[in-house]
Amino acid sequence: SATPLLHGLHIAITAGPTREAIDPVRYLSNHSSGRMGFALAEAAVALGARVTLISGPVTLETPAGVERIDVVSALEMLAAAEQTAPHCDWFIGCAAVADYRLAQISEHKLKKQSDHGAMTLHLIENPDIIAAVAARPTPPWTIGFAAETRELAQYAGDKLRRKGLDMIAANDVTAPGLGFGAEENALTLYHHGEGAELVSHVLPTCHKRALAEALLRYAHDRYRAHQPR
Ligand code: C5P
Repeated sequence: SATPLLHGLHIAITAGPTREAIDPVRYLSNHSSGRMGFALAEAAVALGARVTLISGPVTLETPAGVERIDVVSALEMLAAAEQTAPHCDWFIGCAAVADYRLAQISEHKLKKQSDHGAMTLHLIENPDIIAAVAARPTPPWTIGFAAETRELAQYAGDKLRRKGLDMIAANDVTAPGLGFGAEENALTLYHHGEGAELVSHVLPTCHKRALAEALLRYAHDRYRAHQPR
């Protein structure tokens, strides 16, 4: 039979949310389910790739044949990504990384202060994981994700440039029944054309597993076009 499409490629994928500790019992996080990243991992293995899945805290089972690295915080995810990036051909950033973490994690459980009606947490910015990977001297081919509520093309195009990515998959998270936590998703892929123009490619709305495969097939065409022969 024919060689599978992604045979010989090692693909790293970040998935799920990150969790930023406040104190020993509390954290900041988001509603990412990890489903899109896990669907990509499963689809990539089915297409013949070797897959390393760097996952934040999620309740999903590891797809068969996938090497999984579990992390909790953005800093742990960055460390796992930096460790994996030198050995992989593609890096797909599907994780919903917390933009901020606590400037200092409290050693003990914070107490409610009865004399105050308010509470302030001091946050500092987390590193941008996929941008750090893309900025490496010999970076893997990078694909980012962008969840937007408006101006898809403009914001996705900005992120593609700012983070130095090869491709970005954008979804409108305001569309009913799609995106975060949902089984189905709709994505528009953006990348640069022969000139500096932004090229878009709409993937039809479908189950995340089928969408993942369509994304990987399109990405493979782009990757081949960009590789020196
Ligand atoms: O900036 P925004 O969070 O919308 O960008 C989304 C893309 O960047 C995703 O691919 C996400 O995984 C990645 N990202 C990252 N590290 C961050 C923030 C976002 O890798 N700190």
